[in-house]
Amino acid sequence: MSFVLNTYNRRKISFKKGKGSYLYSTNNKKYLDFVQGIAVNCLGHANKNLIKAVNSQAKKVWHVSNAFVIPEQEKLAKKLTKNTFADYVAFQNSGAEATEAAIKFARRYFYSIGQPKKNRILCVNGSFHGRTLATVFASNNKKAMEGYYPKVEGFDHFNYGDHKGMERAITNKTAAIMLEPILGEGGIKVIPDYCLQGLRKICNKKKILLILDEVQCGIGRTGKFFAFEHAKVKPDIVPIAKGIGGGFPLGACLVNKKVAAGMKPGTHGTTFGGNPLAMNVGNAVLDIVLQKSFLKNVQKNSKYFHNGLNKLKYEYPKVIQEVRGLGMLIGLKLNVDQTKFIRKLTENKLLTIRAAENVVRILPPLNVKKKEIDLAIAIIRKVCKNYK
Ligand SMILES: Cc1ncc(COP(=O)(O)O)c(C=O)c1O
Repeated sequence: MSFVLNTYNRRKISFKKGKGSYLYSTNNKKYLDFVQGIAVNCLGHANKNLIKAVNSQAKKVWHVSNAFVIPEQEKLAKKLTKNTFADYVAFQNSGAEATEAAIKFARRYFYSIGQPKKNRILCVNGSFHGRTLATVFASNNKKAMEGYYPKVEGFDHFNYGDHKGMERAITNKTAAIMLEPILGEGGIKVIPDYCLQGLRKICNKKKILLILDEVQCGIGRTGKFFAFEHAKVKPDIVPIAKGIGGGFPLGACLVNKKVAAGMKPGTHGTTFGGNPLAMNVGNAVLDIVLQKSFLKNVQKNSKYFHNGLNKLKYEYPKVIQEVRGLGMLIGLKLNVDQTKFIRKLTENKLLTIRAAENVVRILPPLNVKKKEIDLAIAIIRKVCKNYK
């Protein structure tokens, strides 16, 4: 009997240790882990630089209040702003918190310029922004909202790909459009570059803010530091989490000068966000991910992976309908049941995870080795073959 609240359908495997791309189960089996905590462990398990970052900071100071200047926080904020569109960073603990902060900052911006009624956020149906009340209703996913009414007000929605519907949904109360450049939980649906560019233009024209949720697709996952960089657009607000902590809980909300001007002491806060321990790990993650050669390698290896998977799609069209995604954020849209397929991959020692639209999500660590990609392809091929 488990005393853990029953909010997950958990697979009956537990792990005693991890190393790089591999996890070792308590019953002594070795798994190729292409879940990595759902795009969290961007440098794999037990990365020696991250272990060092935790250990060295743990001996100094774990936690101090944000009532004090935290040097590790200053350092990480400087790195993030130097290397991105952002001018300022507010540290949080998770993706949902970072996304909720993004919603708050957008509203607060219009409040600060004397337009408090401009407070609605326009989002995509079937997206995923988190599990807090506001982010659940922002995502507008029936299953996630069930039992949690009354509805949190202030969100409007349009369908993925419906440009006209999106324009129609913008009113004089719209403060911002918020979306994931790649819908992760929603089925690894990439928003094409020209759409992101069009969105930026519409936001400029209507004088509203553009929030791009990079919680899952950011921090090098697509081969660029941020997924929106492929489209060469500049958002106003970007929530991040997952990869930035490399496995340590860490979120942040990045903003430009314009949005930052709406915030002042007391308008937002957190007890744990930006603690020295998380900051030291975040700094260590960025020291690796921001190296040009690192992201080049992600691009090269992910191209190799996509090519291999597309070959499988041609070999087994009755099993694989489509290879989706960008970089190391990969989805296999199946013609067969995703749950069974994932179970078969697991039996063959490859861990993957579901997404909407019958998609199997494949999320290797960003520093995955070519031979590990080959092994994953061989396992997927073996499973596909058995469907013949
Ligand atoms: C795009 C996106 N936003 C927000 C979240 C919420 O992050 P967290 O689970 O850390 O609260 C997720 C989590 O999967 C996500 O994929």
